[in-house]
Amino acid sequence: MSTPKYLEIASTINTMIDSGEYPKGSKLPPHRSLANDLGTTPATVAKAYNFLSEQGRIESFIGRGSFVSHDKALDQVIYSEAANKEINFSILQPCFDAEHLQLLDSHIQTACHSPDKVLLHSYAESSGIWQHREAGLEWSEHFGLEAKSADEILLANGAQHALSGLIQLYTKPGDLIAVEAQTYPGILSILNFLGRRVVGISMDDKGMIPKALNETCIGDCPKMVIIVPSHQNPTGISMPKTRREEIANVIEKHSIWLLEDDIYGFLNQDVISPLTNLVPHLGFYVSSLSKAISPGLRSAYIKAPKAEARHLANFIRASIWLAPPLVFAAASSLIKSGDAFRLATRQRNIANKRQSIAQELLPSSGAFKNTGSYHIWLTLPDDWSSEEFALAAKEHKLLVSSASYFNATAEPLNAIRLSVMSESNEKRYKHGLKELSLLLEQKQYKHIHF
Ligand SMILES: Cc1ncc(COP(=O)(O)O)c(C=O)c1O
Repeated sequence: MSTPKYLEIASTINTMIDSGEYPKGSKLPPHRSLANDLGTTPATVAKAYNFLSEQGRIESFIGRGSFVSHDKALDQVIYSEAANKEINFSILQPCFDAEHLQLLDSHIQTACHSPDKVLLHSYAESSGIWQHREAGLEWSEHFGLEAKSADEILLANGAQHALSGLIQLYTKPGDLIAVEAQTYPGILSILNFLGRRVVGISMDDKGMIPKALNETCIGDCPKMVIIVPSHQNPTGISMPKTRREEIANVIEKHSIWLLEDDIYGFLNQDVISPLTNLVPHLGFYVSSLSKAISPGLRSAYIKAPKAEARHLANFIRASIWLAPPLVFAAASSLIKSGDAFRLATRQRNIANKRQSIAQELLPSSGAFKNTGSYHIWLTLPDDWSSEEFALAAKEHKLLVSSASYFNATAEPLNAIRLSVMSESNEKRYKHGLKELSLLLEQKQYKHIHF
């Protein structure tokens, strides 16, 4: 008896996943196009995908398609434990040098030697120690946030924790959430784990397009829209003031929650007023010390609408009791002394310099603007697909992030994200860029297909 066609297809896909041709998190072809390639029906391909889905090898999402199981997707996009022999272009974090690390040490010491030791080791109020919330207010106001008082500021263990908590609290499984067409994979990962449906809203060179958001709201109103307005991950776009106003109008008109993740706001040369200022009763503004100071501090601040602050504080208490006071004492010392702002400016200058170096060393076929961001969104030459390029780069000991992990739409993308910050050593960074240039100029005719 011959093997049913759908099992043959499933087995081929299984092999391709095992061999790495379809990496974790990558998108499988749509039913119809694969059926055409294989001379079979879309129903047979659907049966093969259902079979793989039951086995937990792939995950399917209405409107987005099928992906190789997502559980490890973040591992594939951010190689945080890369061995030293690999040059890392995958992590968006500060460029650590001796001066930066020494300043961190001294503020951690200040926290350890605080006269309030008992307070720092005790169960504080769920919304955090008042002085730590005030420091959060000072940090966020410096980058343009308007808030009445630290009453509206809550503490979280990093922006990731803030995002997942807010999505859990303000939306339900099955709800539709609008995100930028290309977005930070950590957001997609939360939405997938929590069973929220995702709609990617089209973008142009100013960010999310208001008309596209409005049309989605009219058609199938999302509960929440998530926006990274400054130095967007992965495109590097910063939404100008007028675009923020237009988006805020749509949010107001349809009365949906706004989750504004402004983790890269400190990179703006001039302050751009956050969207939350325009819709304070609907907006949650998230800022974090991870990118300017240290992701290890796990310190983030949420500005909630006044009417929601208590509800959110109770939720934080129910989930983690409170963000660690000792860590927030170090964060507060950094902010109150002004060192946090000096470090942020320093990192902004490094990012600018690193972008200029990349402009010199990468081939002009992949031209990009110096956005001053921690990353470059590089369109690939036609004969490379993003996944093939990421795999080929890995073989050359260069770690880059393929576009597929950032894609919230069904449209194929031919790009990679390159962090300009994860290699602290400038010599290694330059060497890596030269190697990437050589690879980009190689012609690649092999494409993934059956
Ligand atoms: C847009 C965006 N939001 C949130 C995060 C996570 O930040 P945190 O380390 O504060 O959890 C990242 C990290 O890359 C990010 O790029």
